[in-house]
Amino acid sequence: MKDFYTRKSREEGYYARSVYKLKQINKKYNLIKTGDKVLDLGCSPGGWVQASLELIGNKGFIIGIDINNVKEIKAQNFQFIKADVEEIKIDGTFNIILSDMAPKTTGDRALDQERSFDLAMAALKICDTNLVKKGNFLCKIFQGGKYPEFLKEVKKRFEFVKTMKPEASKSKSKEMYVIGKCMKPKKE
Ligand SMILES: C[S@@+](CC[C@H](N)C(=O)[O-])C[C@H]1O[C@@H](n2cnc3c(N)ncnc32)[C@H](O)[C@@H]1O
Repeated sequence: MKDFYTRKSREEGYYARSVYKLKQINKKYNLIKTGDKVLDLGCSPGGWVQASLELIGNKGFIIGIDINNVKEIKAQNFQFIKADVEEIKIDGTFNIILSDMAPKTTGDRALDQERSFDLAMAALKICDTNLVKKGNFLCKIFQGGKYPEFLKEVKKRFEFVKTMKPEASKSKSKEMYVIGKCMKPKKE
């Protein structure tokens, strides 16, 4: 039995049920706007890219990065880079940085939380060098372990910080989404 959002994503032509998580978060916090330059970390198979393309219009663009290939997306304003986010240097300036990155779960909850924290911190550090002033950030992290430490780091950098577990996120999943709006000016 496929769940409601999996069936809905198939019917509506989206590559992943996670598309509805982004839609629900964006509906509440209005993170992605027309003309935005978007960096999507961990973008495969491409659900968040599809949703972001609907929001940014023709003037914006999206760069997506993943260690796995993305499914076919025919859009001139989308570029895919196959790479490990923890290993490449990203060169660009974005209005919003998204990270839905998740480690391959091992069943060892502490280890999975630690890896999820590492990925979330890698995404946050990319904000330090690649996000415009007053830019926005949305990042998945598994709760537990160093989750409070991650929240503290996000609060240092953004004026407005919220967390949300959208309805489309399975209740048994430990994932949480951290929203950072309006990046603070960098200290010299
Ligand atoms: C939950 S999926 C993302 C789904 C995506 N948001 C969508 O809507 O299609 C998590 C992704 O993170 C990617 N990922 C995990 N670690 C990564 C890393 N170090 N660098 C790049 N991508 C990574 C995985 O390959 C996986 O495709």
